[in-house]
Amino acid sequence: MKKILVTGSKGQLGVDLVNILSNEYYVIGLDKEKLDITNLDYVVNIVKAIKPHIIINSAAYTNVDECEKNIDLSYKINGLGARNLAIASLENNSRLVHISTDFVFDGQKNEPYIEFDIPNPLSIYGKSKLLGEEFIKQINPKHYILRTSWLYGENGNNFVKTLLKLGKENKTLKIVNDQIGTPTYTKDLVNTINMIIKTDAYGTYHTSNEGECTWFEFARKIFELANITDIEILTITTEELNRPAKRPKYSVMKNYMLKLNFNYTLKSWDKSLKKYFS
Ligand SMILES: NC(=O)c1ccc[n+]([C@@H]2O[C@H](COP(=O)([O-])OP(=O)(O)OC[C@H]3O[C@@H](n4cnc5c(N)ncnc54)[C@H](OP(=O)(O)O)[C@@H]3O)[C@@H](O)[C@H]2O)c1
Repeated sequence: MKKILVTGSKGQLGVDLVNILSNEYYVIGLDKEKLDITNLDYVVNIVKAIKPHIIINSAAYTNVDECEKNIDLSYKINGLGARNLAIASLENNSRLVHISTDFVFDGQKNEPYIEFDIPNPLSIYGKSKLLGEEFIKQINPKHYILRTSWLYGENGNNFVKTLLKLGKENKTLKIVNDQIGTPTYTKDLVNTINMIIKTDAYGTYHTSNEGECTWFEFARKIFELANITDIEILTITTEELNRPAKRPKYSVMKNYMLKLNFNYTLKSWDKSLKKYFS
């Protein structure tokens, strides 16, 4: 049975990775306390001891606005942490799966980004995630980098859960309507990872659910599916919201490498959201 090491195992994606992949692999999930990916010696020693066939890095510093304040920590976790796993996986001949983000793009394109478009991140989060990608590409050729977007799942914090909570506490909510992207269900991402790791097709993959929407449209769908009708959702602009980190206006990604390599498509975002609620 193949052995998989999952980092950041208590995060929203980490929990699903461990639960779902355990049906098929021997999965060892380590959280931040057991494996801090910023500690190179520790990462190398743990990987040497476990000898995983595959490492899946779902550990990251994901608070986009906080990253603007904690710049060193962002680069340490999202950049050097990925590098450390690349070194350890190379030394152990393990394959490395790394999760990255649509925020590596600047949002200036008017059609979905493909894997061959040049990234140009606007935020420290995006820059540090891009650094992680670059380290991995330089160090371990046996890598799969999966860029995803607007992730939600049953575990951890995400937009869906936040809205459901706010929906109970408020009669009116203001939601941004000038950022366009694609919500992605963690379980669809895990299933795609499971498909890719069975192949030798290393490289960078866009892995979002199909379609696009604004945060406002995402919110409207969430309340519709949750049968919450007594709430008024108003639209605001990104400028009015005035968050510390700049975000791309348009960060929709086309899963072009999945199509070219495997003719593989993910479900549309609204179908997956429906599944999440059912
Ligand atoms: N969430 C999104 O909307 C989204 C969108 C696009 C891409 N992604 C990417 O998808 C991946 C999974 O994200 P997620 O939503 O599951 O994030 P998450 O829920 O924040 O999980 C990340 C996990 O990493 C842990 N971690 C932080 N620093 C660490 C360190 N030094 N060593 C080991 N673990 C550490 C965190 O622990 P603590 O919480 O205790 O710090 C947390 O459990 C990340 O690579 C993220 O960049 C996420």
